[in-house]
This record gives sequence, structure tokens and C-alpha cells, in this order.
Amino acid sequence: MKAIIPVAGVGTRLRPHTFSNPKVLLNVAGKPIIGHIMDKLIEAGVDEAIVIVGYLGNMVEDWLRKNYSIKLTFVDQPERLGLGHAIWMCKSHVPEEEPLFIILGDTIFDVDLGPVLKSQFSTLGVKEVADPRRFGVAVTGGGKILRLVEKPDTPVSNLAIVGLYFIRHSGQLFSSIDHLIDNRILTKGEYQLTDALQHMIEHGEKFTTFPVQGWYDCGKPETLLSTNEILLKNHTTTKTYPGCIINDPVFIAENAIIENTIVGPNATIGENSVISNAIIKDSIVGSDARVTHIMLNQSIVGNNATVSGNPNEINIGDFSEIRLG
Ligand code: G1P
Repeated sequence: MKAIIPVAGVGTRLRPHTFSNPKVLLNVAGKPIIGHIMDKLIEAGVDEAIVIVGYLGNMVEDWLRKNYSIKLTFVDQPERLGLGHAIWMCKSHVPEEEPLFIILGDTIFDVDLGPVLKSQFSTLGVKEVADPRRFGVAVTGGGKILRLVEKPDTPVSNLAIVGLYFIRHSGQLFSSIDHLIDNRILTKGEYQLTDALQHMIEHGEKFTTFPVQGWYDCGKPETLLSTNEILLKNHTTTKTYPGCIINDPVFIAENAIIENTIVGPNATIGENSVISNAIIKDSIVGSDARVTHIMLNQSIVGNNATVSGNPNEINIGDFSEIRLG
């Protein structure tokens, strides 16, 4: 089965990291965001990924081609006209009679996709959220979706569309997007995938939902770090590092050098990085980074970056109290 993964976004909220990396290549718990997504797809039986690229798309393409052997097709999205439009650009790569899976490229999910991809009906991943205003939502009844609304101003449902879409009839999806484009039907200034799916419902396509509990956002530094923590759970380190203390869970790349350091919990250390005389917890250190003489907490250190502190020299007398910033 083919899966479409749109990853063209700029990742503004993750600057400065996304000045030099596409968001989906940021490391979380030992591999890039898109690596987590690809592994889930392949495990569920996807054998071709159609990746919609834009910003720094050549880096995404290089990394995927180097790391995966399934068929990969790259579609360039020069204009940002909405998710519906992005999907529409893949039309020539998807035979109408085939089912299709779409997974948004900026979020990591913990859900068994196996049964989803065998579903008899089109089905969307959903999760109840407290504030649905920044999502597409599904109104359900009688075991199916009655209506889909993109980012409703007045609440109609708390069931957010999380970004996992199994489409039984691809041909109908593409003709629904054709309909939006031919008639310039835009919502919030964009051609919306949600509107195309709603059009399919109006024309008789049955949609069901499946629950997604594990839905891990990677859109901002704090959520990237909390996702790192969640994905590291149960990860144990077998390698020993003389002179170091490893507080699992951590991920330390095989060739990273760790000296005289405390790592963890919840720390990811990327390839070729050198960490010495440091304490690193709840943090992500990219590849080829140098970290020395410092304590890092809730931090993200980019690839090839250097962070070093100064060991303080002090000479204080009895009963003194000092607080170092
Ligand atoms: C997109 C979809 C929206 C969905 C959301 C999930 O919105 O249009 O229906 O709920 O992804 O993250 P975006 O976040 O791109 O604005």
C-alpha cells in the first residue's frame, strides 16, 4: 500500500534548529521524526512512500534514500495552498482503485496501523481534545462519521482529526479535491483535506474513526523534549562508559564519546558527539556536537554545535552561602 507523507513545512516554532534542518530530520529518542513514522508504516505493510517535500526537501530525500529501501517518490510542493492541495499533487502517483494512507509528517503516533490498513471502510484517527479549535474535528453517530469540520469557530465536536487518514477509494478523494479546486472552495484561505473528505461523505463514502491515544507533538522545543522522554521510556543502555553514570532511559549513539559525565534520565546523544565533564538530563544533543563542563537540563543542542562551561574556582569561608547562576 502507498502512504503519502506531507513534510513540506518550515517548522518556524523550532527555530533555530529548522534554519539548517527540515523539522522531520530533528532527532528525537535516537532517530529523526520521519524515521519513527517510516518504521511504523513499514511495520504495517506500507511498501511505497510518497513524500511531499518543500523546505530543505533535498535533505529529507537524501536521508530517506540512504536509510530505507522501500519505493520512495518525492513530490515537490512549491506553493503552500493547503493540505488538500498538497495531497492533490500526488494524484498521478496513486491509481484510483487503490486504497491510500495519509500520515502527517510532523507528529509521532503510537497506534497499531496493521488493522487500520485492512479496514473495510475509510477511517480517520481521532482523539478527544479539550480545545478543538486548532484541529479538524469529526462529528460521529451510528458508528460512522456524520460530518467533518476544519477548525470550527463554534464547537461542534471534541474529536480531533490527528493526521492519520485511511482512504478506501483514492479516486473519490482526488475527484473531491478537484471539485474544491475547480470551484475555489477554500477554508481559512486553503484547500483543506478535511473539506475534501466532507465532500466524499456527502457523496456516500462511509468513514469510521479509530482512537489514537499516543499522539506526540514535535512542533515546539518543549513538545520535542516531552516526546523524546515518552519515546525513550523502557529504553535500556547495555554499553558501559567507564567513569560515567548512565541514568536510563537514555539513547546514546554507538559512536558518541562520553567521558566523566552523568547522562540521563531522558537524554538523547547523537552520532559522533563528544560529551565530557557534564551532566545531561531531559535533553537532546544532536550529532557531531561537543559538550563540556556544563549541566544541561531541558536543552536542545544542534548538530555540530559546541557548548562549554567553566568549572568555577571558589574559596569561601565557614558559614558562607552562595548561589551560582
Ligand atoms: C491539519 C489538518 C487538521 C488536523 C491537524 C492535525 O491542520 O488540516 O484537520 O486536525 O492537521 O495536526 P494543521 O495542523 O496543518 O493546521
